[in-house]
Amino acid sequence: MDNILNITDSIYYVGLNDRDTHLFENMWPLPKGVTYNSYIIKDEKNVLFDTVKATKTHLFIEKINNILDGGKLDYLVINHMEPDHSGSISDILRAYPEIKIVGNKKTFEFLKALYGIESNLYEVKDGDEINLGKHKLKFYMTPMVHWPETMMTYEETEKILFAGDAFGDLEL
Ligand SMILES: [Fe+2]
Repeated sequence: MDNILNITDSIYYVGLNDRDTHLFENMWPLPKGVTYNSYIIKDEKNVLFDTVKATKTHLFIEKINNILDGGKLDYLVINHMEPDHSGSISDILRAYPEIKIVGNKKTFEFLKALYGIESNLYEVKDGDEINLGKHKLKFYMTPMVHWPETMMTYEETEKILFAGDAFGDLEL
């Protein structure tokens, strides 16, 4: 199994390295490839943050199932809709049909335009919160960092910011 890392006792990294893509947006060289960052919080409600590029979906879902160990996914938080974050949303929806997709009004415009998804939506605005049990998520709208729908999610109990790609991607 490729790179499942505990960030804390209940927060996991489930992203993937892509060594097959050599140019970012067909322009900037990626000599070491690129990393798609995605995370899970396990609590009374389980949450997935962002997804990966569509070409890596199969391995991504295998990693998620391995961590959930029979549990279900309650929420998918979409901090950013660029395809390296959103490419697996349709497959996640198929794999977990009861999941709620958490995003803002702009997120859902992209979701419909790029993937035709109009169901399972849970809209949040700046400052809204979702309680997971021990963890609590708070949403901050950060438009144009770097697409119009971009937002960030702060987990208040463990004080972790899920920042999408605002600070670049980390190679693991
Ligand atoms: Fe981006």
